Amino acid sequence: MAAITLNGIRKSYGPHTVVENLSIDVNRGEFLTLLGPSGCGKSTILRMIAGLDSPTDGGILFDGQRVNDVDPARRNVAMVFQSYALYPHMTVRQNLEYPLRKRGVPKARRAGLVDDVAAILRIGPLLERRSSQLSGGQQQRVALGRAMIRDPAVFLFDEPLSNLDATLRAHMRAEIIRLHLRLGKTMVYVTHDQIEAMTMSTRIAVLDGGRLLQLGTPDEVYARPATRFVAGFVGTPRMNFIPGALVQGDAGCVFRADGLTLDVPVPSLAPSGRQVVAGIRPQDLLPAEGGLPGRVTLLESTGQEVLVTAALGSQEVVMRLEDANGLRVGDTVGLAPRPGKLHLFDAESGERVGP
Ligand SMILES: Nc1ncnc2c1ncn2[C@@H]1O[C@H](COP(=O)(O)OP(=O)(O)O)[C@@H](O)[C@H]1O
Ligand SMILES: [Mg+2]
Repeated sequence: MAAITLNGIRKSYGPHTVVENLSIDVNRGEFLTLLGPSGCGKSTILRMIAGLDSPTDGGILFDGQRVNDVDPARRNVAMVFQSYALYPHMTVRQNLEYPLRKRGVPKARRAGLVDDVAAILRIGPLLERRSSQLSGGQQQRVALGRAMIRDPAVFLFDEPLSNLDATLRAHMRAEIIRLHLRLGKTMVYVTHDQIEAMTMSTRIAVLDGGRLLQLGTPDEVYARPATRFVAGFVGTPRMNFIPGALVQGDAGCVFRADGLTLDVPVPSLAPSGRQVVAGIRPQDLLPAEGGLPGRVTLLESTGQEVLVTAALGSQEVVMRLEDANGLRVGDTVGLAPRPGKLHLFDAESGERVGP
């Protein structure tokens, strides 16, 4: 187990800066996820932690010791990739043993460690099969086993579940969470999938364009997204965004939506005439008499819930309801945010301005 510190990391390839001024403290035993869209620098950051790449600027520390110049092999990290990177001509046992053989671990000890790992990952029956004969999920398990077997201080995962189908992905997600609970090792997990990030992590670092936008627990990131980008990236269906302004109403500050006549009270903010974008999650938008007037354009039922799309002024918003309550396409419905569930972002910078 090790604590990892990224201290003012910058990474540039020629003139292109792909990671900028990144500082994160990964606590000992933590499961920290780097979440962001493709190309935002996640793999680059992971490779720098592993030592496969070096930062242009800034320090990487393991337990307070600078490791910028320490060889990957001496950092005691194990990496699991999206491509399983198993040796196809070797059996599962040989694949698992490989990192031990390279380190000259004696045969009897190797066999014991293989048995332990196989028991934890429930791959005992597969040990004598060639890895090329395994399904994707089985191969990913073996790849996990190979990472575990030499008891590294840090596990690094680069989108390890991306090649699996949805059912298997959910299953392996749970498997990795259990593994973290069991081993208690420091794990840094890279994904573009916000569901994985939300369900697995102790904390999430949300990134875009090589910059850290927010670092927090899944609950914090979900409940108080620091920017409009984070708000839109985390949560399905996606948060609704309604442009407008903060103005002085009769009884204090209100959010006034662009082109709509209704004001939504915003108790805690001083009015400023500031241009803002209000964010409301679909489950926090409710039918309400006298609410913002929406015209229903689409109803999508999954059996357990209904997504109602409504045109609000010039744009569409989505409401997530347990029951359509007789709503039909073409109806006009009043829409109001659940009290306290309106997020406000600066229209220009996208920074959260309240509440
Ligand atoms: N070796 C490299 N040379 C030049 N540009 C690179 C190199 N590796 C990555 N990049 C660029 O850095 C950015 C971040 O890439 P990457 O870390 O792979 O993103 P992610 O893993 O989030 O999809 C991308 O724009 C990518 O094209
Ligand atoms: Mg990547």
